[in-house]
Amino acid sequence: MAASFEELLAREGLAWMGQNTTHLDPPQEVVEAIERSVRDREFQVYAPPAGFEELRRLVADDIGLPGSEVWMTDGAVAGLYHLCMTLAPRISRVITTDPGWPWPGRFLGRTGIPVHAPGVYENPSRTLTAAQVASVIEPGSLLYLIDPLNPLGSRYTRAELEAIVKLARETGSLIVHDCTYRHFATGHSLVAELYPEGTFTTYSFSKWLGLAGLRLGAVIAKPEVLEALTVVPANPLGAGIVGQRAAIAGLRVRGPWLEQLRGVNRANIERVERVVAETGFGDVVVSPSHGNFLAVDIAATGLHSEAVCDALLADDIFIRPGTYQSPGFGERFVKVSTSVPPEWVERFAASWASLAERTGVPA
Ligand SMILES: Cc1ncc(COP(=O)(O)O)c(C=O)c1O
Repeated sequence: MAASFEELLAREGLAWMGQNTTHLDPPQEVVEAIERSVRDREFQVYAPPAGFEELRRLVADDIGLPGSEVWMTDGAVAGLYHLCMTLAPRISRVITTDPGWPWPGRFLGRTGIPVHAPGVYENPSRTLTAAQVASVIEPGSLLYLIDPLNPLGSRYTRAELEAIVKLARETGSLIVHDCTYRHFATGHSLVAELYPEGTFTTYSFSKWLGLAGLRLGAVIAKPEVLEALTVVPANPLGAGIVGQRAAIAGLRVRGPWLEQLRGVNRANIERVERVVAETGFGDVVVSPSHGNFLAVDIAATGLHSEAVCDALLADDIFIRPGTYQSPGFGERFVKVSTSVPPEWVERFAASWASLAERTGVPA
């Protein structure tokens, strides 16, 4: 059975390469902001309901949607939950992807709304195509587009998004554009620019700034669109104040931090790709990944993805089997997170290099 997160957290020296969280030394400014906030005992008060004004403005500028309304949430996932539950009465069906990130489909699925998750693993683009959307969309659908796509690292081109937006507009459907991994991508486009009247963009501080434990994210939309969610928000007492202080500090040093983060991430992705190629154990699914993770197809080894993850965990390296994110293809791939110290990636590489021998797969 898979180890629980509690057990994994208690394991000293574990290389945490399974949740796409960032484990580099954080910017000094962020640490200082957290320390100052704790010292000033700000944890004893509530933050402003929608978030600090400065933070909301910085987030809108950072994502590239100045003038949009920003609602700070307790992690992106809490915003997604509220969005799903609030909009459920006007949604006819959900369209997402397999593989994907399962939670919005699960939230809406619980209300009885049908969930369609066309397979994208074998699409040349490794993204949802407009033709797949056209085959399932109906008036009042909600499209959940993860872009870049966790777990494959693919991203949508602007032309692909335009074709999907056309279908959404024709059917009066909504699009949730999950931009959790946008900071790691090149050539990323925003659905909100193409379809402002029907798009919610979601944003996270867990990955690019490494604040997963502080639980801070945002939902962004045109004021009249966002109002549907914020008239009765899920967090009327505000998202955590310490996290908001950390986020403001991080956004102020965004430029140099992102340069460093992307550089380390890119080199780590290349290192993982190299060891996969050299060992011939598996094939990288999307190269180069636009995320801080990459997927490796291990079908040709004959092993189940969970067996591969167990073998790495025996060496104190935590990566994720595809089964967490893909009912249709999950046995065939594992996902490796890469915004981590290069030493961890070296340990991963050494462990991967001995996998064939340890699992009895002929080289
Ligand atoms: C696609 C996607 N959306 C949202 C989240 C959750 O983000 P947060 O930590 O801000 O709740 C994740 C976390 O893995 C994710 O992969």
